[in-house]
Amino acid sequence: MNHFEVRDGELCCEGVPLSRIADAVGTPVYVYSTATLQRHFTVFREAFAPYPQLGAPLIAFAVKANSNVSVLKTLAEVGAGADTVSEGEIRRALAAGIPPGRIVFSGVGKTAAELAFAIETGVAEINVESEPELDLLAEVAAAQVKAGGGARPAIAFRVNPDVSAGGHAKISTGKSENKFGVSFAEAERLYAKAAASPHLRPVGVACHIGSQITDLAPMEDAFRKMRGLVERLRGLGLTVERLDLGGGLGVPYFNQPAPPTPADFAAMVARVVDGLDVQLAFEPGRVIAANAGVLVTRVIHVHERPEGRRFMVLDAAMNDLIRPAMYDAYHDIRPVRPTNAPLAAYDVVGPVCETGDTFTRERDLPEAGSGDLVAFMSAGAYGASMSSEYNTRPLIPEVLVKGDQFAVIRPRPTYDEMLAREPVAAWL
Ligand code: LLP
Repeated sequence: MNHFEVRDGELCCEGVPLSRIADAVGTPVYVYSTATLQRHFTVFREAFAPYPQLGAPLIAFAVKANSNVSVLKTLAEVGAGADTVSEGEIRRALAAGIPPGRIVFSGVGKTAAELAFAIETGVAEINVESEPELDLLAEVAAAQVKAGGGARPAIAFRVNPDVSAGGHAKISTGKSENKFGVSFAEAERLYAKAAASPHLRPVGVACHIGSQITDLAPMEDAFRKMRGLVERLRGLGLTVERLDLGGGLGVPYFNQPAPPTPADFAAMVARVVDGLDVQLAFEPGRVIAANAGVLVTRVIHVHERPEGRRFMVLDAAMNDLIRPAMYDAYHDIRPVRPTNAPLAAYDVVGPVCETGDTFTRERDLPEAGSGDLVAFMSAGAYGASMSSEYNTRPLIPEVLVKGDQFAVIRPRPTYDEMLAREPVAAWL
């Protein structure tokens, strides 16, 4: 359920008509619903309530899905932690008031400076993805001790469970040919190595097999393998307190079969970890944010080719929402002021100068014309966070709605601001 509904003939976000935001802020613009963000987070958390034996899991929102500080703060209000993959994301989480004890630091290639920052911050867990990273982390931690610091960072090993989770190849991470994580055999060896280090504190293991997963079977398969690993490590006399099962749960993108619900997911997890006695962590991103946001854009014009193709040219482009170009992703497109206009087949495109800037082809949509507003639905995850200024199009603004109020939470830069960011080389 989300809070984007037609009221009095207008698509609204909670109590605010999207056209009002478009008029005030201009288009294109992302619009997020506070109630939906918080509801999705709460539904995910409450899905574990029937299993008190599991304890309260750490639910670390994957910041990459939507990294706006106000969005993170909105989620922090209802208890979210943060799954981060860069120093920048850690800083965003801290700026949003998320305590370090609820921040997980993941990622395949963390630099020495980033690791040092994470240790100083005292994040809950650094997910180590390879042996070189383990060695680097031990070095960085040792250097901090030498310099008078002293925290032994809590680490978890990200394991690649070698399962295929379906979905788009560019977002599948759990096969051994992908760059993520260590193998089960390596995990055992590296865990023992870390436990022997005076500077590291291995606390657990982690996995994340992909994104937009709509079938629980591969997840269950991976989680069972992770359970086996926990048991083997304990059999070796090692302490394993934490099991981080990543994110990846899919959302309905309108034309697809309904994915499993958080309740289905939690029931599966409870089955798999029954009696294991670990503290669970999850890193959901999309399932929290996707359906809590839309991209509102205006039709610049409709251009009909004599041979019959009809192009709807929007003021949003691939730099604002790259998912269709990058992953052939489907987003429902709705008129902001629905009419009884007949349907017509459109190629919906942006103004960027490449054919890849096509949101969809031959989609039946209500007839629309210059100046009409349309909304891309389910755009709250991996929308704004992946946007850019390609073609020197100002970075798309973001707006947060709460009830009948709204606030600009990332303004559109002016052209002067954009140009001021680029000092001209002194010799020019
Ligand atoms: N944890 C880790 C370590 C991850 O790499 C990811 C996503 C997540 C959690 C969150 O996954 P989620 O619950 O959102 O599926 N840009 C792509 C998605 C990339 C996902 C990358 N990793 C898209 O727009 O579909």
